[in-house]
Amino acid sequence: RKRVVAFISGSGSNMLTLAKACAAADFPAEIVAVFSDKPDAGGLEKAQALGIPTFVFPRKDFASKEAHEEAILAELDRQRPDIICLAGYMRLLSGRFIARYEGRILNIHPSLLPLFPGLDTHRRAIDAGMKIAGCTVHFVTEGMDEGPAIVQAAVPVLAGDTPADLAARVLTVEHQAYPLALRLMAEGSVRMENGRAVATETGGATESV
Ligand code: GAR
Repeated sequence: RKRVVAFISGSGSNMLTLAKACAAADFPAEIVAVFSDKPDAGGLEKAQALGIPTFVFPRKDFASKEAHEEAILAELDRQRPDIICLAGYMRLLSGRFIARYEGRILNIHPSLLPLFPGLDTHRRAIDAGMKIAGCTVHFVTEGMDEGPAIVQAAVPVLAGDTPADLAARVLTVEHQAYPLALRLMAEGSVRMENGRAVATETGGATESV
């Protein structure tokens, strides 16, 4: 089973669905640790309840972004992860960090990338008059929310939706898309090559749920 470290900043519902998927005997990955930059992230208790070790790295404990990442990388290397899953981790990783784990870092973003990268994505989708929204699980590259997609899932935008309404609807499909993407990665069905997500013989690179 592939070793996964999940990074969170918040409630950790995506981390929890990954952990639940990993609990199945035939799932090709396990979450070996959860890292958070926020001591009060709700996901920390969820991980602890499952017996998953947690590590907290508050940004304010470090003089610079470099020092912060250095501490994170030191513990990350000790965990010997095969795959890193950013799951609501609200910090941009440096190029150096990404290069160290090139092609092995996944992120979930609550929009149909390349539309609406960055923050406040649901409000922007509504303001743009979108009739569908969704989520993207993608490989992490240096540009924010720019790496190639592995799995996307769509939901309707309904008349009168608030950003919170849409976020909740998108979150339900995030919980399907992320375990699927992790399975594809862990079983070796998809990899990043020349900035694209490519399928290997065993599976499809881009699936919908
Ligand atoms: C999810 O909707 C995730 O897609 C989003 O934060 C939420 C975290 O929820 N991520 C981003 O916006 C990244 N830029 P969770 O902590 O319950 O998984």
